[in-house]
Amino acid sequence: MSSATNTKAAAGQFDLAPSILSADFARLGEEIASAEAGGATILHVDVMDGRFVPNITIGLPVVKSLRKATKLELDCHLMIVEPGRYAVEFVEAGADMVSVHVEADAHLNRTLTAIRAAGGKAGVAINPATPLAMLDDALDYADFVLIMSVNPGFGGQRFIGPVLNKVKRLADMIRLRGVDVRIEVDGGIDGSNISDVVAAGARMIVAGSAVFGGGDPTAAARDLIAKGSVWV
Ligand code: DX5
Ligand code: ZN
Repeated sequence: MSSATNTKAAAGQFDLAPSILSADFARLGEEIASAEAGGATILHVDVMDGRFVPNITIGLPVVKSLRKATKLELDCHLMIVEPGRYAVEFVEAGADMVSVHVEADAHLNRTLTAIRAAGGKAGVAINPATPLAMLDDALDYADFVLIMSVNPGFGGQRFIGPVLNKVKRLADMIRLRGVDVRIEVDGGIDGSNISDVVAAGARMIVAGSAVFGGGDPTAAARDLIAKGSVWV
């Protein structure tokens, strides 16, 4: 590339955040260590309540155990109704980052402010069909936005293509507003599309089945990081 505006992405340009939803829960410690050996820097923890989404997964006791088992940043994605009731407890359990869905919380300012006051990074998660306008004001008190690129509830779903444009529009919004907010994208990301997601502006990439689905999380994480290191 000759243009001065095109520079090869430096190592560490984005964080890879494997979602343990697709890991073998009976061997969770080993699975996490393996992903970390491949370069993962964040661990994504999908908390589902069977109400906001049609699936039930894990909660506070697992986060407490994970906190003792790994030094990776713990990123708790709350797919639950009334997330404001539990968000601070997740920080107290050891989460470094906690995201709550804009569709689930009528009191985003209160919840995000409480997460920060407890010492966590506060995130707003947004479903594929929810307009970005819904989180316009929340950008002033959020540390990150988690854009869903599948409908939340299950791992292993197909990436919803038009979400790429949404990531770009959010990146523009953040730039224009001059706020310090990172973009995380979650759902259906694999070696075929990770470079597009990073190029669109994401700096935290969640991947569940692409990391844990093939039996070698170290190699899978390494491969994703290599494929996501794009010209931007
Ligand atoms: C979906 C979850 C995602 C999911 C990602 O509701 O929020 O984190 O586990 O898994 P993959 O990468 O398999 O889509
Ligand atoms: Zn998630």
